[in-house]
Amino acid sequence: MAAWWRAAAVLGLAFLTAQVTPSSGSNKCVGRNFGHGSVVCQCNSTYCDSVGSVSLPPPGQFASYLSSMAGSRLEPGQGKVQMNSTGGGLRLTIVPFQKYQKIRGFGGAMTDAAAINILSLSAGAQDQLLRQYFSSEGIGYSVVRVPMASCDFSTRLYTYADTPGDYNLENFTLAHEDIRMKIPLLQYAQGLSPQPLYLLASAWSAPAWMKTNGALTGKGSLMGKPGGREHKTWAQYYIKFLEEYAKYNLTFWALTTGNEPSAGQMTNYSFQALGFTPEEQRDWVALDLGPALHASSSSRTHVLILDDNRLLLPHWAKVVLNDVHAGRYIHGVAVHWYADNFVPAEISLGVTHHLYPEYYLFGTEGCAGWSPLDRGVKLGSWDRAEQYAHDIIEDLNNYVVGWTDWNLALDQTGGPNWVKNFVDSPVIVDAKQDIFYKQPTFYSMAHFSKFLWEGSQRVGVSASRETDLEYTAFIRPNSSVVLIILNRSSSVIQFEVWDPAVGYITTSAPAHSMLTLAWNTK
Ligand SMILES: *[C@@H]1O[C@H](CO)[C@@H](O)[C@H](O)[C@H]1NC(C)=O
Ligand SMILES: *[C@@H]1O[C@H](CO)[C@@H](O)[C@H](O)[C@H]1NC(C)=O
Ligand SMILES: *[C@@H]1O[C@H](CO)[C@@H](O)[C@H](O)[C@H]1NC(C)=O
Ligand SMILES: *[C@@H]1O[C@H](CO)[C@@H](O)[C@H](O)[C@H]1NC(C)=O
Ligand SMILES: *[C@@H]1O[C@H](CO)[C@@H](O)[C@H](O)[C@H]1NC(C)=O
Ligand SMILES: *[C@@H]1O[C@H](CO)[C@@H](O)[C@H](O)[C@H]1NC(C)=O
Ligand SMILES: *[C@@H]1O[C@H](CO)[C@@H](O)[C@H](O)[C@H]1NC(C)=O
Repeated sequence: MAAWWRAAAVLGLAFLTAQVTPSSGSNKCVGRNFGHGSVVCQCNSTYCDSVGSVSLPPPGQFASYLSSMAGSRLEPGQGKVQMNSTGGGLRLTIVPFQKYQKIRGFGGAMTDAAAINILSLSAGAQDQLLRQYFSSEGIGYSVVRVPMASCDFSTRLYTYADTPGDYNLENFTLAHEDIRMKIPLLQYAQGLSPQPLYLLASAWSAPAWMKTNGALTGKGSLMGKPGGREHKTWAQYYIKFLEEYAKYNLTFWALTTGNEPSAGQMTNYSFQALGFTPEEQRDWVALDLGPALHASSSSRTHVLILDDNRLLLPHWAKVVLNDVHAGRYIHGVAVHWYADNFVPAEISLGVTHHLYPEYYLFGTEGCAGWSPLDRGVKLGSWDRAEQYAHDIIEDLNNYVVGWTDWNLALDQTGGPNWVKNFVDSPVIVDAKQDIFYKQPTFYSMAHFSKFLWEGSQRVGVSASRETDLEYTAFIRPNSSVVLIILNRSSSVIQFEVWDPAVGYITTSAPAHSMLTLAWNTK
């Protein structure tokens, strides 16, 4: 079927790469306006906009990258660092001795839907798209979340062990979607990436025969109790998955204890879910998952709990992490962004960090167009770009060490999705025309992912007066400084940045803009 052709196309890329010259230097955005506030940048098999690889001017100067509702997309600029303040006005002061968390990375998810969309393009356009995310001319993604078996962004319902009663997982087998679609794309992305990718696995549902409701969807959890047969088999299912992917040279940095465990506690939940209470998750990790992983060849794989909305914090973390038997197998707490507006970051993320500073916080899912009031794809929506940047800045300022977007690519309806739970993505594919659009949200990701390398450490910023600006600052491992600023309002004023190590930067944040400033300190 068509998928075989697509698979052939992606495998064919291995031969193509030698001939495709990567776009070097910078290419301008080919903007198209669909009437949603701003433009998308259109790319095809031979052209895509890019800032290229970024290098900073010598100390005494700074680099800036601007994206705005008015149409700038990572527009590069440079200026001189002044020795004297211009006085008055707003000043943002970098406070390097206030040190916080270190960055792990940024990325997106290789769902079945993302793979189907990427593979619907010609080999050349697939290459352009994956370069945009993963190559050094791209935006520096280093994290890829990989759903284990089907989720709503699949075209059918399946798990890797659908034979009833197969407690020893003798018939465990990866799906066509893994072998023909996701794995070849992940290998290709890995080939483009200058560093080993951090792969992150999450399961949506256990096989129906292990569950109280006998179905992948709806309200249901594992039969029996932690330590019992189903719970042990479900832990082994993770180990098998890691082993199978390892055969393709894809090793996982981390796994989560399961996508959105609260969904599987809701009556008639419409797509794949597996309910866990925090107590059951704690005991499953302590008795089953932790020991199984420890005894396996994947014992270095990190375990992240929750993988659900932050409104469940700090309660969920308290229940699970207060238990030493579970806590010793756990590395972090994974959060989704849905309903973030209703729960201040300080009382969820901030409090969890202060209670359990030895566990890191990591963003594992977020997307625009999920709310019933604002559904699906909106080409060129600047509002959604601001939603992303706002949430990322808020997370980073509350100890989160990375942020993972949802589907890497969707089609123009925001799918495919078997329950029609259509949403938006930073990359929207038009297979008929063999093109893809980079949404404003793509650049929101870029303002962080391209500049905040692994190991970048957040530092303090103090504002000389009240401001609506949102900002976060980091010192990278090579001691250069990165300051990211979001202005969500509709006019422009001047402000200055003071880095005591180098001097004053006089600049401005235009209305509805994102600005990344970066400079060397030595
Ligand atoms: C790709 O886009 C570029 C820039 O818009 C254009 O010049 C070129 O003709 C396009 N190539 C194809 C194959 O459509
Ligand atoms: C840090 O890395 C950036 C990007 O590679 C480079 O432009 C800059 O000069 C480096 N700074 C130092 C101090 O090495
Ligand atoms: C900076 O300010 C000092 C004292 O306020 C002054 O003496 C000096 O000339 C100024 N330097 C520049 C470059 O304006
Ligand atoms: C595995 O599948 C085969 C047929 O495909 C079946 O004969 C066998 O009983 C299955 N094993 C288990 C444990 O279910
Ligand atoms: C995995 O990587 C090793 C070493 O880089 C290589 O020799 C081997 O061919 C790779 N295997 C596959 C299946 O890609
Ligand atoms: C759940 O679905 C069943 C069958 O469709 C229906 O009868 C029931 O009313 C639903 N319950 C709720 C709470 O929506
Ligand atoms: C951002 O725009 C708003 C528009 O009302 C303005 O009040 C604010 O001063 C601007 N911020 C900066 C730093 O330019």
